[in-house]
Amino acid sequence: ESTLRAAAAKAGLFFGVAASPGRLGPIVAQEFSQLTPENDMKPDSIATSSGGLRNTGNADTLVNHAQSNGMLVRGHTLVWHSQAGQLQGASQATLNTFIGNAITRWGSRIAYWDVVNEAFDDNNTGRRRTQWPHSLSRDANGDGDYVDSGDTDVIRESFRRAKEVVRQNNLSTKLCINDYDVEGLTVGGGGRNNKAQALYDVVRAYTQGSEKLIDCVGFQSHFNDNPNSVITADLQANIQRFADLGVEVHLTEVDIDDDLSGNDIGQGQADNYRKVVRACLNVAGCTGITVWGIADSESWRSSERGLLFTGGNGNYQKKAAYHAVLDEL
Ligand code: XIL
Repeated sequence: ESTLRAAAAKAGLFFGVAASPGRLGPIVAQEFSQLTPENDMKPDSIATSSGGLRNTGNADTLVNHAQSNGMLVRGHTLVWHSQAGQLQGASQATLNTFIGNAITRWGSRIAYWDVVNEAFDDNNTGRRRTQWPHSLSRDANGDGDYVDSGDTDVIRESFRRAKEVVRQNNLSTKLCINDYDVEGLTVGGGGRNNKAQALYDVVRAYTQGSEKLIDCVGFQSHFNDNPNSVITADLQANIQRFADLGVEVHLTEVDIDDDLSGNDIGQGQADNYRKVVRACLNVAGCTGITVWGIADSESWRSSERGLLFTGGNGNYQKKAAYHAVLDEL
């Protein structure tokens, strides 16, 4: 196959990209079969303080572009401490209102929604993030799990509301939880990845009990030279154990630092991309990979040169990493 999109389809995956309306050149639909709005569906873009919607024009542009080009859409994101905009400090009731409004606004045109993003603490603590909205959580018996009866868990409450909306409207939309530094079973340098374990415990609790709340798990996969987030050999094993819970696993925001390869103009980076793609391909439940932008110059981490193209809109050039991914697919 001669495009990422076609090669991925043959392998049974979607291959997606994060984009904004200004980046919708022909390459997007040629190379990619899935689109994530990089910023235009975040609460600071579209939420009012009472959980209503505003300024949905950019999001509509992206959804329409995807639909007319046969691309899936990942809605990103409903409940997040960052870019919360007018929802900063909102109650669970207001979050639930926003969840309902956003899901019904686009309905089944959104294949996957990131319902909850980045709920867990940094630095491998395995705890919940203390920043909003996790301050809404109440751990009644103080055991740190937020999943017992009597606990209120913003993750559970948000997924409950989202599931209810999906059911009431007969939508095909799947509901995902998304995070970073959860990719490996271990952290770089060794030791258990407690953040991955905490995510796993939540997904297990809310998929194996009477409530099937979570359909999919996103590993952001911003791989860099931080020891907690380098690509570990056990990426595949970690993908596998989540898939074994019956959820789809996606690599949702992939970029891989070129620094990891010692500035050797991309060959080490290309090899790292191969490893990541292979880990997903080897697990049936890993159903899609999304890169977090088209070209290095457009990346949120542009100095790391972590994407598949150089150049810019209208003048994209394929890197070694692009050819490696295409070949591996
Ligand atoms: C980033 C965007 O790429 C930037 O343009 C924006 O300024 C900040 O957010 N985790 C996520 C994404 O879930 O939404 C973030 O996107 C990157 C980290």
